[in-house]
Amino acid sequence: MPGEEEFVVTPYEVKGRIDYERLREQFGTQALTHELLAKLHHIAGGELPPALARGIYYSHRDLGTLLDGFAHGTPFFLYSGRGPSGPLHTSHLLQFQLCQWFQQRLGVPMYIQITDDEKFWSSKGGIAREETARWGLENLIDILALGFDPKRTRTFFDSRSIAAMYPLAIRIARKVPYSTVKAVFGFTPSTNIGLVFYTALQTVPAFWPSWAEGRAIPCLIPCGIDQDPHFRISRDMAESLGYPKPALLHSQMVPGLLGESVMSTTGDRSDNALFLNDPPEVVERKVRHAFTGGRATVEEQRRLGANPEICSIWALWRTQFAESETKFAEVTRGCRSGTLLCGECKSQLRERVGRFYRSHAENRAKAAEWAESTIVTEAPKAL
Ligand code: TRP
Repeated sequence: MPGEEEFVVTPYEVKGRIDYERLREQFGTQALTHELLAKLHHIAGGELPPALARGIYYSHRDLGTLLDGFAHGTPFFLYSGRGPSGPLHTSHLLQFQLCQWFQQRLGVPMYIQITDDEKFWSSKGGIAREETARWGLENLIDILALGFDPKRTRTFFDSRSIAAMYPLAIRIARKVPYSTVKAVFGFTPSTNIGLVFYTALQTVPAFWPSWAEGRAIPCLIPCGIDQDPHFRISRDMAESLGYPKPALLHSQMVPGLLGESVMSTTGDRSDNALFLNDPPEVVERKVRHAFTGGRATVEEQRRLGANPEICSIWALWRTQFAESETKFAEVTRGCRSGTLLCGECKSQLRERVGRFYRSHAENRAKAAEWAESTIVTEAPKAL
């Protein structure tokens, strides 16, 4: 069935059953190999975070060069972002948890972009400006609460940081022909012109520190692979503007609780993800109703074991909630062998997620006090 093979991945559309290896080849990125992970492990020390150790991050551009540079005394900075259209769910945290781990291990600066303009332009159902701005701040607080260092973390909040970004955005925009954005993002004649310009703004943070300091500072961008098209554009122009090409680390899209093989926000079914503002009883209900890889009967499951690969609960353990490799291996083994039944597995996960929500609430209250102070408002140079 040819139809089954088809999938589309752009920053504005993720559709179909994604074949990640094929996507990597289409995009022309490199595989994240064991050797490279070992190098990272060596440089950073300690256990690798779940998203790296368990293959959720699976592709990269120039990570090896960036790490070699770091090992030889050239520090880099991190950059990642969020388009605010509503509350964050747990899978949205992945890229930021990874950044926080890098910052803590290597002491590097972090730049967060909150694209309240992008979501106003791109949201299909239409979303009010007040909403993208409000969620922008809420999302930022959730991100900072993951443990970012207030002294080393800066935010580009597009509508509020535009004066700081614009002198650089001007230069970037001049390097991007309309034919490129049309081809890369699949824009049509009815696409609004905000989105046509927007990609220039998503490139700004990748070059901003180099621009501000007047020297080449390498950049590492952990992101979902759907964001790669923006950064192909950044990389293509980097050298002509005198900046290093940003390195990238790409993750797969995390499946939702209802078991679709696509992005967790697919459709508007809020039961498909655990939102950070869900009250405990809602989290409980969502976990209870989540799609699993269990068998029809207990007897069958004891005999044959269950299938973690299609299970949304296992995906939660894998991506974030099994903190150690030992715990992750225990859950996986129990599932496959039929000794851990779905009810028990779900109740363990509920407990673990509940613990995360409680500590997150505390960290969030603290981060709310300094979130505003991270927002960059002044350009280093007027021109
Ligand atoms: N475009 C991203 C989104 O829709 C937001 C974003 C901005 C981003 N800058 C980024 C994501 C850098 C990853 C890395 O959510």
